[in-house]
Amino acid sequence: MSSGLEIPDDEKGYDLDLFCIPKHYENDLERVFIPHGLIMDRTERLARDIMHDMGEHHIVALCVLKGGYKFFADLLDYIKALNRNSDKSVPLTVDFIRLKSYSNDESTNSVKVIGGDELSALSGKNVLIVEDIVETGKTMQTLLSILNGYNPKMVKVVSLLVKRTPRSSGYRPDYTGFEIPDKFVVGYALDYNEYFRDLSHICVMNEHGKQKYKI
Ligand code: HPA
Ligand code: MG
Repeated sequence: MSSGLEIPDDEKGYDLDLFCIPKHYENDLERVFIPHGLIMDRTERLARDIMHDMGEHHIVALCVLKGGYKFFADLLDYIKALNRNSDKSVPLTVDFIRLKSYSNDESTNSVKVIGGDELSALSGKNVLIVEDIVETGKTMQTLLSILNGYNPKMVKVVSLLVKRTPRSSGYRPDYTGFEIPDKFVVGYALDYNEYFRDLSHICVMNEHGKQKYKI
């Protein structure tokens, strides 16, 4: 269990003008925080680490929508490349779930799994949960306890991002792409009120963007 690539609190990111940004978001962003290329390079290595640990048996890759969809697609492409080019390979099947969390207060966090196949199909399987970001960790802890009720053989969690925040429960995914400061980030399928999923780089919004897409 590694912290992933640690991005320090004083990381300034990169000027928008150094990269290509969709015109419709140009005025809404402050900085590029993690360029798309770096996301891809880190994801390639995560795929290798995951296959090293899980590559003996059929893997059920479970995408947590909507934020996980880009990371899921790119991670699976790298795993498929390993399967094509290695002496050993394993079949991958996929499923897609959404989580609805109802948090009444800090301590009682209830999560409902929406969509996807019957969870009973995970019995005896090696399950890889693919998530975009772990912040408090409570949602993931609740999901894990739900899944464990269906007796999978193994469950591993990979999250592209883990936020360093005092709100963390202390939960850590098995695999982490990047550990980031306590900032709100968007892009690469992470959203702010459904916007910015269609942005390749992970970025920090500016005040104009926060106001424009506020609900
Ligand atoms: N960005 C987008 N979605 C999120 C974040 C974030 O920083 N944290 C939790 N969900
Ligand atoms: Mg998420």
